[in-house]
Amino acid sequence: MLPQEIIRTKRDGGSLDDGQIAQFIAGVTDGSVSEGQVAAFAMAVFFRGMTTAECAALTRAMMHSGTVLHWHDQNLPGPVLDKHSTGGVGDGTSLVLAPIVAACGGFVPMISGRGLGHTGGTLDKFESIPGYNASPSLARFREVVRGVGCAIIGQTADLAPADKRIYAIRDVTATVESVPLITASILSKKLAAGLHGLVMDVKAGNGAFMPTTRRARLLAQSIATVAGAAGVPTVSLVTDMHSPLGRAAGNAVEMHEAIGVLTRRSSSPRLTDLSLRLAAELLLIGGLARDLADATQRCQAALDSGTAAERFAQMVGALGGPHDILERPHRHLPSAPIARPVFAATSGVVTHIDTRAVGLAVVALGGGRTRPQDAIDHAVGLTDVAEHGSPVNADRPLAIVHARRDEQVLAAAEALRAAFVIDGARKPARRRLVQDRLTG
Ligand code: URA
Repeated sequence: MLPQEIIRTKRDGGSLDDGQIAQFIAGVTDGSVSEGQVAAFAMAVFFRGMTTAECAALTRAMMHSGTVLHWHDQNLPGPVLDKHSTGGVGDGTSLVLAPIVAACGGFVPMISGRGLGHTGGTLDKFESIPGYNASPSLARFREVVRGVGCAIIGQTADLAPADKRIYAIRDVTATVESVPLITASILSKKLAAGLHGLVMDVKAGNGAFMPTTRRARLLAQSIATVAGAAGVPTVSLVTDMHSPLGRAAGNAVEMHEAIGVLTRRSSSPRLTDLSLRLAAELLLIGGLARDLADATQRCQAALDSGTAAERFAQMVGALGGPHDILERPHRHLPSAPIARPVFAATSGVVTHIDTRAVGLAVVALGGGRTRPQDAIDHAVGLTDVAEHGSPVNADRPLAIVHARRDEQVLAAAEALRAAFVIDGARKPARRRLVQDRLTG
């Protein structure tokens, strides 16, 4: 069938069969389907949607457009598991979760992305570690996963190349916000890593890609259902992103925060709680625990005993980073020359945070990017970010700004004062961190 006939069928509200979808994606991959045809297809799906069967076929076709990793030849003594988040601000859960799962008997081949827009990216955080090789050969990646239990690396060109082309076209044709297209895009990359189970963290809130819980639920359900149909048991959690997850936002600063959580030297309750919950869901999916309570207790024990921290250090060392990152993070991670607190104009309680604006303040400091090719400054960012419901006053700042230049601090201070709403009297209702749990 000609690509234009496939597009016409979808445009007119018809359903595509597996063969038609596979043929279209083969054309996307070999270049015989033009950019205009990809754009028209994406727009047709945007308006007409897809059935679960179509979305599963699209996911499979995109996943098989490049290399698909297999682990059976490695004889791993545990399941291959991974987590994916739709992205937020101050979200360092991958850094904490992967070593916890590894310490509990799972194997985590995590292929992570860069930050774009106001959200941070796991890959950027790891690139703040000197010497860390986030693009090893696939053979080395597999070796580290086998030996350590987890490896976090960057996207490789050979996994799901069709998604790379389609995503770039969606980005400039106003077709990103389509649940079936997002589902297939995320899952094609994740499932190409050869997983036995996946947990999805779909963020909802003013710092998330999906601002409303209703939209986040739709995506969460779609991903769990389609991944399940593709044979990968998946649990989706809808989690709060109406405020930064942790107390740091940036790259090296988030690495410090994660190391603090792993070594128990500092606490970051929301980051710790969400990392434990997502890790526990993975143990359950992977058959490594009896129930969620047992899984949570195992994850907590891995954190408390230091075995998760050890896995983290082993992973960093195995991928070329310093072997003493846990003992001497300050020696290795870059730091900005200025660290200055920013105070609110009035004392009171934080009742609202424009989380996206907090993320954009990090971008303005140089810690994030607005175009994929932009370089970033790993040292800058925010720490001690005031939490929703916490007091701020002359002693307790909105955040500490880490910057290179004074004028950057001034700009960040202005952005932060505008992003936080402070109320003198009213303490806001607590937001639930995990708002929903959906399975396929
Ligand atoms: N992230 C992805 O990888 N793909 C999308 O379509 C949206 C977010």
